[in-house]
Amino acid sequence: MTDDVQGRIVALIPAAGQGTRLGLDRPKAFVELDGQTLLNRSIDAVRASGVVDQVVVIVPPELVDDVRARFPEVSVVAGGAERSDSVRAGLAAADPDTELVLVHDAARALTPPALFARVVEALRGGAGAVVPGLPVTDTLKRVDDTGVVIDTPNRAELRAVQTPQGFTAELLRRAHASAADATDDAGLVEALGEPVVVVPGEARAFKITTPFDLRLAELLCGTPDVVEPDPEEQPS
Ligand code: CTP
Ligand code: MG
Repeated sequence: MTDDVQGRIVALIPAAGQGTRLGLDRPKAFVELDGQTLLNRSIDAVRASGVVDQVVVIVPPELVDDVRARFPEVSVVAGGAERSDSVRAGLAAADPDTELVLVHDAARALTPPALFARVVEALRGGAGAVVPGLPVTDTLKRVDDTGVVIDTPNRAELRAVQTPQGFTAELLRRAHASAADATDDAGLVEALGEPVVVVPGEARAFKITTPFDLRLAELLCGTPDVVEPDPEEQPS
């Protein structure tokens, strides 16, 4: 746990999505991976990081009572139609004296606890907004509605960003004061013209989105972390 001098840290875990692309019979965060739900695994990872004082999970309205009973030590609130509505609902439930906020997708169920600490370290170093990111390995194309390529962004400048994304509470509240939607919270901060810093991400923090991702997560469960070569020494 953090000490009070440095201010309190809350983790918001949005888990209110339907999981349409996964296509199972329940909301994605309630799907099991080797006997534990994605939500359960994400709560455990946040707590194992040791850097968070309060955990707020945001779930579909009909599951609030169930989740409260199952996880008495976390705050549980009902989510909204879009991810950003859910994050706003979670932010409203954060302690008023919160200094830093981490927002972490329940769907990134295999995220190593150390990644939370890395993001907090960058915030403690003075950044207002921090996202984990990995270099992209595929060449990416921008395409029009008909599937014709418009252009090819320079891959060296691109990062695939993950969660936990970290913010000062003041900045995240300001970013969410508008009714805007974005696929990540950093996008709302960028829209304010405020800087967002990227720190190294983790391959295991990938988002379980499709049936293939769930299979991959099943295969990775219980396997040790892979040690990657130093990216500085790799060709892009
Ligand atoms: N999320 C949320 N509230 C929403 C939509 C999404 O809390 N209205 C959460 C999801 O539960 C997930 C995270 O945001 O943990 C990332 O969203 P995504 O991967 O898109 O999950 P879903 O929206 O559930 O999936 P899909 O888009 O395939 O329906
Ligand atoms: Mg979604």
